[in-house]
Amino acid sequence: MGVRVLVILLVFLLGESIGDAATNPYDFSAIKGLMSDWQNTPPNWVGIDPCGNGWDGIGCKNSRITSITLSSMGLTGSLPGDIGQLSELQILDLSYNKGLTGSLPLQIGNLVKLTNLLLVGCGLYGPIPDSIGSLQNLVFLSLNSNGFSGLIPPTVGNLSRLYWLDLADNQLTGSIPVSSGSNPGLDMLLHTKHFHFGQNRLSGTIPSQLFSSEMHLIHVLFDNNQLTGSIPSTLGLVQSLEVVRFDTNFLSSAVPGNLNNLTSVQELLLSNNRLTGPFPNLAGMNALNYLDLSNNSFDATDFPAWIPTVQSLTTLTLEHTQVQGVLPVILFSIFSLQSVVLKNNNLNGTLDIGTSRSNQLQLIDLQTNLIDSFKHSTGVYSVVVILVDNPVCQETGAAGQSYCTVPQTNTSSYSTPPNSCIPAVCNSNQTSSPNCKCSHPYTGTLVFRAPSFSGLGNLTYFEKLASSMMISFQSYQLPVDSISLSDPRKDSYNYLKLNLAVFPSGGVRFNWTGINSIGFVLSNQTYKPSQLFGPFYFLGDQYMNFDVPTTSKKSSNIGVIIGAAAGGFVLLLLLALVGVYAFRQKKRAEKATEQSNPFVNWDPNKSDGSIPQLKGARWFSLQELKKYTNNFSDANEIGSGGYGKVYRGTLPTGNFVAIKRAQQGSMQGGVEFKNEIELLSRVHHKNLVSLVGFCLEQGEKLLVYEFLPNGTLKDSLSGKSGIRMDWARRLKVAIGAARGLAYLHELANPPIIHRDIKSTNILLDDHLNAKVADFGLSKPMGDGERGHVTTQVKGTMGYLDPEYYMTQQLTEKSDVYSFGVLMLELLTARRPIERGRYIVREVRVLINKDKDLYNLQGILDPAIGLGTSLKGLERFVELAMRCAEESGADRPTMGEVVKEIENIMVFAGLNPKAESATTSASYEEASKGYATHPYRNEDFFEYSGGFPPSRIEPQ
Ligand SMILES: *[C@@H]1O[C@H](CO)[C@@H](O)[C@H](O)[C@H]1NC(C)=O
Ligand SMILES: *[C@@H]1O[C@H](CO)[C@@H](O)[C@H](O)[C@H]1NC(C)=O
Ligand SMILES: *[C@@H]1O[C@H](CO)[C@@H](O)[C@H](O)[C@H]1NC(C)=O
Ligand SMILES: *[C@@H]1O[C@H](CO)[C@@H](O)[C@H](O)[C@H]1NC(C)=O
Repeated sequence: MGVRVLVILLVFLLGESIGDAATNPYDFSAIKGLMSDWQNTPPNWVGIDPCGNGWDGIGCKNSRITSITLSSMGLTGSLPGDIGQLSELQILDLSYNKGLTGSLPLQIGNLVKLTNLLLVGCGLYGPIPDSIGSLQNLVFLSLNSNGFSGLIPPTVGNLSRLYWLDLADNQLTGSIPVSSGSNPGLDMLLHTKHFHFGQNRLSGTIPSQLFSSEMHLIHVLFDNNQLTGSIPSTLGLVQSLEVVRFDTNFLSSAVPGNLNNLTSVQELLLSNNRLTGPFPNLAGMNALNYLDLSNNSFDATDFPAWIPTVQSLTTLTLEHTQVQGVLPVILFSIFSLQSVVLKNNNLNGTLDIGTSRSNQLQLIDLQTNLIDSFKHSTGVYSVVVILVDNPVCQETGAAGQSYCTVPQTNTSSYSTPPNSCIPAVCNSNQTSSPNCKCSHPYTGTLVFRAPSFSGLGNLTYFEKLASSMMISFQSYQLPVDSISLSDPRKDSYNYLKLNLAVFPSGGVRFNWTGINSIGFVLSNQTYKPSQLFGPFYFLGDQYMNFDVPTTSKKSSNIGVIIGAAAGGFVLLLLLALVGVYAFRQKKRAEKATEQSNPFVNWDPNKSDGSIPQLKGARWFSLQELKKYTNNFSDANEIGSGGYGKVYRGTLPTGNFVAIKRAQQGSMQGGVEFKNEIELLSRVHHKNLVSLVGFCLEQGEKLLVYEFLPNGTLKDSLSGKSGIRMDWARRLKVAIGAARGLAYLHELANPPIIHRDIKSTNILLDDHLNAKVADFGLSKPMGDGERGHVTTQVKGTMGYLDPEYYMTQQLTEKSDVYSFGVLMLELLTARRPIERGRYIVREVRVLINKDKDLYNLQGILDPAIGLGTSLKGLERFVELAMRCAEESGADRPTMGEVVKEIENIMVFAGLNPKAESATTSASYEEASKGYATHPYRNEDFFEYSGGFPPSRIEPQ
């Protein structure tokens, strides 16, 4: 193990000078684990070098993956424990992927370098694991707008560097944890500025210990929960507070008098509780903009005299608060007042709105009071006054007065106006931008949790918001042409919502990096709107109109944002890196072009020697293959992958064939295609899938194979194909695959190394005979190369020989390693890397030769027939572990493997020479035999050297 670490270190230290700096293999295997769980990852996630090849949404530093930003990608799947392996990860932003479901894995706690964990608006549920408290470096924790349940983990209190804590809009229950003895609690978060816990189901009392004068909170949001008891007076000690929301809970008792000390509070919402006692005096809150104390049980009082003294007030909402007497006229002269809502009180006498009114006043709603007259200087006033259900509206003739009807709320259909141009007429899927260009905008909803204003009719707010947002996007050099905001509205939680549309510049669509960069600016609160808008969050829609990737890769600017967000901006370094990167990419592109068409000199009509010797395989015309597959109809599609699609074809004889059709323009497909034809046409063995023929016409590349009705071994192990894989059948599959491989290594001339042995490349015929398939990566060993050859690393993570990965020396023993992994998969039916755990390591840890079944019961596939005689299983395990030895020299040859499996079969009472140990009558899958089919190449990747990461990272 020590040697291995040293080798890895050496590879990465010397990586750059060797010219093959690459992603750390453990990081890469973790990413592979994520990829196997996720759909809709960016299309440039191919190969094995996320860092070197600039995968969209991946940021690196010295070969280690340090950021993953994939907002609004439409990712689906779960968040597997593999994530815990990315030990250098600092930023994880998977926000706005509603299809990302399941629980937050325990292993998240391993990411001790993490500073930003942003999972806003996903479909995650289940408890938030306690292990989150291990993330000592966390600054941003945003888990809002998911379906998390259970308690707030008290361990969050250990996150001493936390600045932003947002758990709002989930289904969290239980009480607010505070520390006691050695148990942590939220009261320990002395540096945190944001407590966002609204829209949950939190209950119990608010512990007075939660708040203290040492805290630096500015936003405390506990609205829309089920909290009981009183508001603790300790809240009044947090002098930094600006926004306080405890509305819509079950809080009782009097409002503590010392809240009046909070001179920076701008928004205070305590509505919809059971507060009692005297109406609070908040005269000291001289920054107060928005006050809502509605629906509480305060003692009856005359309209509080202190209110008109708060000159910053924009919004006064005191519905059903037992206020009585006459409204003072001076109230309406508050300079910035926009709305006064005092419904359901006992206000009486004359309503006098005076003459020196705030010019922003838009609404005075006094429904259901005792007001008996309304005094206004002239009949013309711009403010909407509502006196419905007051004596003044019960007088004869009053019904005709506008103030005696509730005006229809005109649904504001505001939208950012065009920038002095005439909106373009776009086809149905595109939208005209404010600059009157048709394109596919990125859309979503901005949610402001406590705006300082209520006058949604004043468009100045939204115009300012739009321009500040545009400036922010421009300052991060995002490819944004313009943005538009529309439909400002308040929802039932009293949040202000706006539709946001961000239009692309320089084209009609965004690329992946464009979207996840914009998403990050919003999910990470990198864009900060003016204080008028208060705390916000964004819920992005999935972007459906991505730009099709071009071969030239653009460097990401997410790093710039991250760098700027973290406060460090190393411009020179960035320029240098981008320069080197561009140069390397150009070189690579040139090389790729050369490789892209291996057939340039390969014309079947000319026998100039460049055509391979094709024994047995015949040439099909495209016309023929179209006929066999009903013009490649969807009904005949039996598989697909990065390479292309696979169709079932029916020959004129009635026999089936499998036809693999390379995707047009698939670069790797060309090389693989030629390789596979050349190899397969000269190897023939009953345990190798045989090539019937091929077609190369009109730019199409097609391979025709024998058809194997039972699909892949993986389908059988996963239960997908419905074949019950008992111990005898597994042995039969193992011996078949081993013989096929032994033939390639020891009997083919020249010998062939398969390089991609895995359960999806082992096919089963209708007697469950295993056949090795997919020779796209296979490598023949010339005389001079016998034994080993230096080559680019190819294969599939999890099955890949670590020695080969590190040394790039390919030998037959690399296939032996993969075969060992395959044997363990046969035993456990687990993917080699699943939930962050590597099967080889796991078995090595568990194995105990003194115990029954070597102590492996816990990870054996139950379908193997636990409880039945598993004779020979221990020997099988031993053989697998010898195949998976770290050093190739310690592994057996495939010939030795075949002999040992034969011995095991004899030991288990089976006949290893029998062609068909089971009859097809016993297969349960008959009806769905064709439903799934292999010949696909889902996990294919290619190592193509590395380039040091080009991203600027946070400090
Ligand atoms: C806060 O209010 C209390 C009583 O309401 C008062 O005694 C105390 O001096 C105030 N503290 C500050 C810092 O103003
Ligand atoms: C208004 O109500 C108060 C208290 O309920 C009462 O004392 C006062 O007389 C009333 N004034 C008018 C004009 O009805
Ligand atoms: C709209 O709001 C701005 C402040 O954001 C204010 O200056 C302006 O007077 C308001 N306009 C109206 C018509 O209320
Ligand atoms: C436009 O969108 C519709 C569905 O909304 C889709 O069926 C159609 O293919 C799209 N057209 C183009 C040109 O993208």
